[in-house]
Amino acid sequence: MTAVASEQGGADCSTLNLSSEQLFDAVPYWISIHDRDFRIVRASAKLVADFGDHLGERCYAAYKDRTGPCSECVVKRTFEDGQEHTSQEALFDALGMPRHVLAKTAPVRNPAGDIVAVMKVFVEVTEIRTLQNELAGLGQLIGEIAHDAKNILEGLQGGIYIVNLGFGHGNQEDIRVGWAMIQRNVGRLSSMLMDMLYCAKKRSPRRLPVSLSATLREAVDLFTPRAQQFRIDLRLAATEEVEILGEPEQIHKLISNLICNAIDACRADTKQQKAHRIVAAVSRDELDAIIEVEDNGIGMDPAIRNAVFNDTTTTKGSSGSGLGLLLSQKVTSEHGGVITVRSEHGKGSVFTVRLPARHPKSVLT
Ligand SMILES: Nc1ncnc2c1ncn2[C@@H]1O[C@H](COP(=O)(O)OP(=O)(O)OP(=O)(O)O)[C@@H](O)[C@H]1O
Ligand SMILES: [Mg+2]
Repeated sequence: MTAVASEQGGADCSTLNLSSEQLFDAVPYWISIHDRDFRIVRASAKLVADFGDHLGERCYAAYKDRTGPCSECVVKRTFEDGQEHTSQEALFDALGMPRHVLAKTAPVRNPAGDIVAVMKVFVEVTEIRTLQNELAGLGQLIGEIAHDAKNILEGLQGGIYIVNLGFGHGNQEDIRVGWAMIQRNVGRLSSMLMDMLYCAKKRSPRRLPVSLSATLREAVDLFTPRAQQFRIDLRLAATEEVEILGEPEQIHKLISNLICNAIDACRADTKQQKAHRIVAAVSRDELDAIIEVEDNGIGMDPAIRNAVFNDTTTTKGSSGSGLGLLLSQKVTSEHGGVITVRSEHGKGSVFTVRLPARHPKSVLT
């Protein structure tokens, strides 16, 4: 093999005289060697390059920002039983970013056979881990959607049952009630399917001029009768003219979702004598158009607040799909923007959507 490589002009590896030090640093894996006190006594060049130089520090402090050893420590186990052990861990790299790794330990013995150190070799599995999380999320989403679909189906079956009763007894009122149930549930199913289709597709929105002030006004007008029905004061605060480029229907849907949620939040707040109000506003700064929908409804506790843009969390039982904010987040990011929320349980919420504004000059041309 070597001879052939030489004939072809390749390097002759038989002349290589690599020291164990050189080999240690040439291995394309992260390697650390630990003493009994968890201190790092050696680290491969790749580990130092990616995680920083932590020689002499304790591994749990250096890579995990911990004050004490991990509860399941494979280094400790290898010191105890002299066996190889495997673990999955998350470490912080030199930039403070979490990196998921698969780690394996092995004992390092002196000529007398005593374990003097433990070698830990680890490879990155962050991408696999992200995929695993996405798959788990997908599984949960499918379960939740199936649950919602089942509720809708039950609503449809209930409606059909009442309509059949009405036909059987010639009772027009039963037929009217049952038919209304069927219509309501077909509507829910169709809007759920449209939302799912939107969530499932990656797309670039068209770039049509959209007046946010006009869209906000339309949405407020659309929801005013519903707000009045529950004695909620729904108001448009600012009418600053701001345009963006995007999909008019999706922007309308995004704003409608926020107002609809705000109405639900006020309804869910059963505090006596609280005058509920929702204020929708649009403004702009140098770069962005800013939409704000503020309510003084039930608000959210931190667990819900942190989940609403990432999964189908809902507190509305079978009447909510939890897709509304997931969709709002998708529409916002596809338009190059960011959606955030501030909320306190019992006090209310403010949803803020920032979208790249169309420059006033281009509004004129
Ligand atoms: N303005 C708000 N105030 C308090 N909680 C809110 C507000 N907006 C959203 N939430 C919470 O976030 C959850 C998720 O909202 P999202 O719009 O995604 O779904 P949903 O409203 O439950 O269902 P759907 O939108 O399908 O009707 C809601 O169930 C509610 O708990
Ligand atoms: Mg909603």
